[in-house]
Amino acid sequence: MGGSGDDGGTAMKIVWNENQQRFETEDKKAYLECVFKVEGTHHVIDLIHTYVPPSKRGLGLASHLCVAAFNHARTHSLLVSPTCSYVSETFLPRNPSCLTFVYKEDTALGETADVHSKI
Ligand code: COA
Repeated sequence: MGGSGDDGGTAMKIVWNENQQRFETEDKKAYLECVFKVEGTHHVIDLIHTYVPPSKRGLGLASHLCVAAFNHARTHSLLVSPTCSYVSETFLPRNPSCLTFVYKEDTALGETADVHSKI
C-alpha cells in the first residue's frame, strides 16, 4: 500500500454522519455510504460506495472507513453486504478476518441481533 499515512492527521479520524448515513472523515471529504436493510432474518449494513478525493488516495483512508463500518457491524450484530468494489476486491482480501461478518444467504450470524441504524 502506498503512502506513509501522513495526510494531515485529523482527517484520519472517522465519524458517523447520521443524516447522510455514511462514515466519513472529519473534513467530510472522504466517506463510505451505507444502507441498512433486512434480508430474511438478518439485519444487514450494505456498504454501497466509498469515495476518497484524488489528493488523499493511497494513504489507507478507504481502509480506515471500512474498519469503522465493520466495527459498527460487529458491535451492532449486523452482517455486511460488500456492494462497493473497494470493499469486496481490496479491503476484504487484505482483511480476511472481516469475512466472518459478510452477509451470505446461508449466514446464521445475528439471529437475535438488536439492530440500530445509528451508532
Ligand atoms: N475497486 C477496488 N479497489 C480499488 C479501487 C476500486 N474501484 N480503486 C482503488 N483500489 C485499490 C487500489 O488498487 C489500491 O491498491 P494499492 O494499495 O495496491 O495501491 C488500494 O485501493 C488503495 O487502498 P486505500 O489507500 O485504502 O484506498 P484509498 O483511500 O486510496 O481509496 C477508493 C480507494 C477506491 C475509495 C478511491 O480510489 C476512490 O474514491 N475512487 C473513486 C470512487 C470509486 O471508484 N469507489 C469504489 C467503488 S464504489
